[in-house]
Amino acid sequence: MRVINNDSRSRPDPIAYLDHVAASTAGRDYKQQVLELLDLHPGQAVLDIGCGPGTDLAAMAAAVAPAGQVIGVDRDPVMIAEARARLAEHPLVEIRSGDVHALPLDDGSVDRARTDRVLQHVADPAQVLAEFRRVARPGGRVVMAEPDWEGLLIDSPQPAMSRALVRFLVAEIIRNATIGRSLARVCGEAGLVVRSVATAAPVFRDFTTADHVFGLRRNVTRAVDAGYLTPDAEGWIDDLSSQPFLASALLFLVVAEIPG
Ligand SMILES: C[S@@+](CC[C@H](N)C(=O)[O-])C[C@H]1O[C@@H](n2cnc3c(N)ncnc32)[C@H](O)[C@@H]1O
Repeated sequence: MRVINNDSRSRPDPIAYLDHVAASTAGRDYKQQVLELLDLHPGQAVLDIGCGPGTDLAAMAAAVAPAGQVIGVDRDPVMIAEARARLAEHPLVEIRSGDVHALPLDDGSVDRARTDRVLQHVADPAQVLAEFRRVARPGGRVVMAEPDWEGLLIDSPQPAMSRALVRFLVAEIIRNATIGRSLARVCGEAGLVVRSVATAAPVFRDFTTADHVFGLRRNVTRAVDAGYLTPDAEGWIDDLSSQPFLASALLFLVVAEIPG
C-alpha cells in the first residue's frame, strides 16, 4: 500500500495521489457518474484512454462480462506496471503501452471509451478525439471527465491570494487548464456528436484533503518562486489551514458519440 507523502510541500507519489482521489467521496461520486454515462453492456469492447494505475478497469470489466473486453492505454511505464499487477486476475482486461495521440488499437474496434483527467495534460486533445473516432465502431461513445482549473475557488479573507494561485496553476502548471469548458466544442470540431454536458463541483471543507488533491502548500511555494505570489502567501496558506476552510473545484462530464 502506497502512502501519501506527509510533507505536503513535496511532490506526492503519483499513484498514491490517484488512489487518494479515487477513494475520496468526490472521486467515487464522479467516477460512478462516468460509469453510468458509459452505458456499458455485456460483450462490449471498452477503452480507458490514459488508464493510470488501472483504477476504473475492474468496474468496466464487470459491466461487459462475461464476453467483453477492456483495454487500458497509458504511456507511463510505472502506471502500466501497476495496472498490470492490479488487473492480473481479470481475464477480460488488457493494458497496452502507448501514446493516446496514436492509440495502439485497430480501426473500428471499440464500442466505448473514457478519459478521466487525461485531456488536461496531453499536447493535442483534438488529436486524441480523432484517434477515438478512428478506433470506435459506428455509434461508439466516449465519456470524458476533465476539469476546468479556473473553477477552483478557495474561500479567503484575501481573495487576491487565491486568484493569483489559480492564475499560476492555469498559466504554468496544467497544460490544458481550461479544457473542461472547451470539451464540447473540441468534440464537435473532431466530428463527434455531443450528447450531454454536465458539471460536478465537489466541495472541500477540510484543508488537509484539499491540500492532498490540489497541492495547495506545494503550489503556493512554487507560485512564490515564479513571482505570481509574494512571500507572505506562505503565511496566508498556513492561516487557511488553521481556520474553517472551504474550496470547490469544477469538473465537466461530456458524452459524445460517433455520428450514426
Ligand atoms: C491524472 S492521470 C489519470 C489516470 C486515470 N485516468 C485515473 O483516473 O486514475 C493521467 C494519466 O494520463 C496518462 N497520460 C498523459 N498523457 C498521455 C499520453 N500522451 N499518452 C498516454 N498516456 C498519457 C498519464 O501517464 C497518467 O497515467
